[in-house]
Amino acid sequence: MRLSLLALASVALAARPFLDEPDTGIEEQLGEIVANGTLAPLKSLVGLPDFQWSARQFMNASSYTYYRNGAAGEWSYRNNLEVFMRFKLRPRVLKDVTKIQDSIPTTILGHNFSAPFFIAPCARGGYAHPDGEVNFVKGAAAGDILYMASLYSSRSMDDITAAKGNSSQVLFQQVYLTENMTETQQLFRKIEAAGSKAIVLTVDGPGTGIRHRAARFGVGSANIDLNLLTWEKYHTLSNMTSLPIIPKGIQTVDDAREAVANGVKAIYLSNHGGRQLDGAPSSLEVALEIHQNEPDIFKQVEVYADGGVRYGSDVLKLLSLGVRAVGVGRPYMFSNIYGEEGVKRVTEMLKFELINDAANGGIGDLKKIGPEWVDWRALNGWYS
Ligand SMILES: Cc1cc2nc3c(=O)[nH]c(=O)nc-3n(C[C@H](O)[C@H](O)[C@H](O)COP(=O)(O)O)c2cc1C
Repeated sequence: MRLSLLALASVALAARPFLDEPDTGIEEQLGEIVANGTLAPLKSLVGLPDFQWSARQFMNASSYTYYRNGAAGEWSYRNNLEVFMRFKLRPRVLKDVTKIQDSIPTTILGHNFSAPFFIAPCARGGYAHPDGEVNFVKGAAAGDILYMASLYSSRSMDDITAAKGNSSQVLFQQVYLTENMTETQQLFRKIEAAGSKAIVLTVDGPGTGIRHRAARFGVGSANIDLNLLTWEKYHTLSNMTSLPIIPKGIQTVDDAREAVANGVKAIYLSNHGGRQLDGAPSSLEVALEIHQNEPDIFKQVEVYADGGVRYGSDVLKLLSLGVRAVGVGRPYMFSNIYGEEGVKRVTEMLKFELINDAANGGIGDLKKIGPEWVDWRALNGWYS
């Protein structure tokens, strides 16, 4: 009896739908077009997940896998996507929402942007398009949003800087560091000279990410040594630059507290898109942990968050907890198969969804969105 129950449970689990690519009819509509080797027309894509579908058909298997993969059994990768559906909204009605659009612009570390979301730092933009990250710089300028460039970009820092249409475009620079402090000092000088306004220090990967799917194609994580990163080192690094250093990859309220105590200006909640430590929580869960245990952190420093954001309502859920700006990684990476136009389209779509989801939820002013807008009593566990 016990055995047959176990068997039933495993069948149920195997049959459980996985939201990686939601079924919205794209296969039926565009499947035949792309089967002929044609890139699906950009105007036929209706939402962020469509870019993944289109990229999966268009990119070669190893490049697509590099973008798509998550660590180990990919539980964190899946959870990043699925966690949003576990928390239902509490939409309000009969509210004046006609001015919602005016409250979409925001500031990030004092810099003005047209929306509370940004292009997260992702390596190897050249896998999707020969112009690589140049398209992110131009697309970000066109959409008036922030782009955080990855240190492991396909294009050089000089190319990325040169792609800025005007010198006032604000970029942040993500870094991984070696133990060589002379090299680090040179890197920081180069970043300052390039005009970046902040250094985003990735802290969630002192070891290599265990990436089975990517290892199959030889495109896994390249980090061999265990990096020494401590708060003591953070202070040494901060003394080497005039730029703020934002730790990216905070995954507990404990580390959020420690970051504030160590004088950071901002923290970036992230599990690296589920690519580093399988089992790590999504940034929505971390934001909720902070909200429940130390809500003042959202007032003391700016909090950014990323992972699995695919819809306007995902952004709204993070903002409702006090997150200031939300990062989007893979959708932008996939959109780059269309070059700058694809990058622009993702921004337009997400702004449109953000405005209309907020309106449909009765939010008249995005700056006033609060945690009461979501029912946070979710079922626990990753199988729920
Ligand atoms: C292809 C790819 C490359 C990435 N490269 C970096 C990187 O160089 N540095 C970094 O801090 N994070 C990197 N990330 C993580 C992203 O910054 C971000 O945390 C993640 O993509 C957010 O999840 P999402 O893809 O579901 O939006 C990468 C993610 C992807 C998908």
